[in-house]
Amino acid sequence: MFCLWIALFIPVLPACTSKSAPTPRAGEQSLFQKVTGDDPDEDRRQWDQLFSTQDYVFGKEAASYLQSKVPKIPVGEALDIAMGEGRNAVYLAKKGFQVTGVDLSEVAVRKAKLLAREQSVQIRSVIADLNQYQIRPQAYDLIVNIQYLQRSLVPQIQAGLKSGGYLIFENPTVAELDRNPGRNLRRDFLLEKGELHGLFTDLEVIEYSEGPGENGEIVARLLARKR
Ligand SMILES: C[S@@+](CC[C@H](N)C(=O)[O-])C[C@H]1O[C@@H](n2cnc3c(N)ncnc32)[C@H](O)[C@@H]1O
Repeated sequence: MFCLWIALFIPVLPACTSKSAPTPRAGEQSLFQKVTGDDPDEDRRQWDQLFSTQDYVFGKEAASYLQSKVPKIPVGEALDIAMGEGRNAVYLAKKGFQVTGVDLSEVAVRKAKLLAREQSVQIRSVIADLNQYQIRPQAYDLIVNIQYLQRSLVPQIQAGLKSGGYLIFENPTVAELDRNPGRNLRRDFLLEKGELHGLFTDLEVIEYSEGPGENGEIVARLLARKR
């Protein structure tokens, strides 16, 4: 089943943003809870509404886990799954990758392109529902999946990597349910404990961890490589 970590992360928005990201306005939390993962048109509207601000909701700085791993990865073709407003895609482009970013939200993609222009790099962008999108097989040296969980994509992600290609993955885990029960999170949008380690069976796990991420929320992080 398609399951992404949206609705939940909505009440947690501040925990998902970089330091430069704004505090959500009153009402955004209830807006977020309307994102269900069950109705792409409605979800797109909700995401578009969330991103319809001049501020970068997730900030302009790439995820710290990505920044810590990318310098060791050879430059090439990269795919950013659910790229949002482009913080990670633009970072990769600045490092020399040819980046394609896919996202459901037209507003997010427009902001990603603006960010790229602002930082004098180019990214390719695709507005698409990842439930329908087909990842090109054996096309990527690096696939990045940050703060998004769609388990049905696992076979496509594995097939999309070239031999020797890398996967960088980060998403909150069910430990968030205990850390903050008031967040009313949906369990299926969160990784089970240990799940990410065994999810990509065609890949060699180089590094795996679970623990507090950059904003304190409990995340699982994976660096893996296609044999
Ligand atoms: C939590 S944000 C993460 C954005 C980005 N990865 C980052 O780290 O800044 C989740 C993103 O998933 C996108 N999204 C949600 N459902 C999607 C779908 N079915 N297909 C494509 N993108 C989707 C949203 O538009 C949003 O930009």
